[in-house]
Amino acid sequence: MISKSSRLPVEKAPERITSVPLNRFRHIAGAVSVRTKILGIVLGLVLLLGFVTTFQVRVMSRQALINRLQDSSISTARDLAARATDLILINDLYALHQLLEETQVNNPDVRYAFITDANGDVLAHTFGNGFPADLLAANEISGDEHHSVVALQTDEGVVWDTAVPIYDGRAGIARVGFSEASVQSTVETMIGQMMLTTVVVSAIGIAAAVLLTWVVTRPILVLKTAAEAVGRGDFDQQITPWADDEIGDLAVAFNSMTTDLAQAEKERGEREQLRTQLLEKVIAAQEDERRRISRELHDETGQALTSLMVRMHTMKQQCTVPELKPEIEQLRQLVVHTLDNIHNLSMELRPSALDDLGLEAALERYVQDYNQRYPVQADLLVRGQDGERLPPPVETAVYRIVQESLTNIARHAQAKHASVLLEKRNGRIRVIIEDDGIGFDLQRAAKNERLGLYGMSERAELLNGTLTIESTPGQ
Ligand SMILES: Nc1ncnc2c1ncn2[C@@H]1O[C@H](COP(=O)(O)OP(=O)(O)OP(=O)(O)O)[C@@H](O)[C@H]1O
Ligand SMILES: [Mg+2]
Repeated sequence: MISKSSRLPVEKAPERITSVPLNRFRHIAGAVSVRTKILGIVLGLVLLLGFVTTFQVRVMSRQALINRLQDSSISTARDLAARATDLILINDLYALHQLLEETQVNNPDVRYAFITDANGDVLAHTFGNGFPADLLAANEISGDEHHSVVALQTDEGVVWDTAVPIYDGRAGIARVGFSEASVQSTVETMIGQMMLTTVVVSAIGIAAAVLLTWVVTRPILVLKTAAEAVGRGDFDQQITPWADDEIGDLAVAFNSMTTDLAQAEKERGEREQLRTQLLEKVIAAQEDERRRISRELHDETGQALTSLMVRMHTMKQQCTVPELKPEIEQLRQLVVHTLDNIHNLSMELRPSALDDLGLEAALERYVQDYNQRYPVQADLLVRGQDGERLPPPVETAVYRIVQESLTNIARHAQAKHASVLLEKRNGRIRVIIEDDGIGFDLQRAAKNERLGLYGMSERAELLNGTLTIESTPGQ
């Protein structure tokens, strides 16, 4: 046990580490609406695609343009070197200068051009304000090289300096400087256009996503509203299928579900109505039967026993055999006792007071009788007494509920006291029956198939009432 429990956190820890960010993502993604999710996905994808493509195009096009610039600078320098050879050999510095000027004018990317002799001295250059001294050493070319290209950082940005030997270096070196500015501006224009395209595509993406979410969520919202109405018991809900797609299929399935539910509800209602009618009839028949038996016992059996009792009394007085008198008296006592029992039974079956005097009087009598019969002290309190009779089914139901409750208390509760409160207020009737006995487990009581509690709730329900039982074993 100890080793198991001490190992447990070690095994669980990695799981927790991986699941926390995932859970947080799920929590955030789950908290937003479908519309926000689709919008987020579309916008995220468009922006990601736009930025990645822009970045790639920027890098690749810049590289291609710079390669072209370098090629152009090499061919320009070669051309310059070829054309300068004769001029150097005849030492025509003016023509050399003209050649440099022409080279610069013909190509707007050329920032400067100059020619050095075999000793490295500058013969001609295009710098108006004097030749920059450190430029000579910036790009050196050895004798066996055909060209040398070097990137120089200047105030105007990067300048690609190309050196080409003239007459294999014996006549000097031709150098041209090509500025990257045009490449830069071309790349920037291109990127600007791509960014603009990204923004436009994003806007179109958002508009499309809004439309898409509207198309997707509108029928879902309609379904949700209809499902809520169904939840409230309105089974007449029907949805017009929006399109012949999965959501349309869902609407069709929903409609068939509500139709089935409405049918089932109708059948349930009819069955319930039938059951209620049947129950009412059963209860009415039971009450009628009880009333009949009760009257029979009172009127027939009771009368017969009373007359038997009176005649035995007379018989005892007129009896001339003294030994028989105690016997007759014993028999008479038996008849008295049986008469009492018959009376109680008749009362239990259907107290005539309930029909003749009403619920309160019948309950008073019942409680009085109950106190004599059982070792439980029961009290009855009636509030809101207005002297008006309740409808007979209500009186009977309340009487039977109180009767069954008090009988249960006598049978099961081991209580000392019980109280019955009958309250009439605003057209409602409320009865509270309490005892101070041992209490019981309602769920267990509901399981054993007894009829008392069930009958009470059935009677209450038939009158659109409710029965609430509050009890715990030991309380
Ligand atoms: N006041 C009470 N105090 C304690 N237990 C009770 C009380 N009322 C009911 N019970 C318990 O609930 C059970 C169900 O009561 P119910 O009236 O349905 O059946 P019953 O009294 O056992 O039989 P019957 O069907 O004859 O009424 C009882 O068996 C008893 O255990
Ligand atoms: Mg009972």
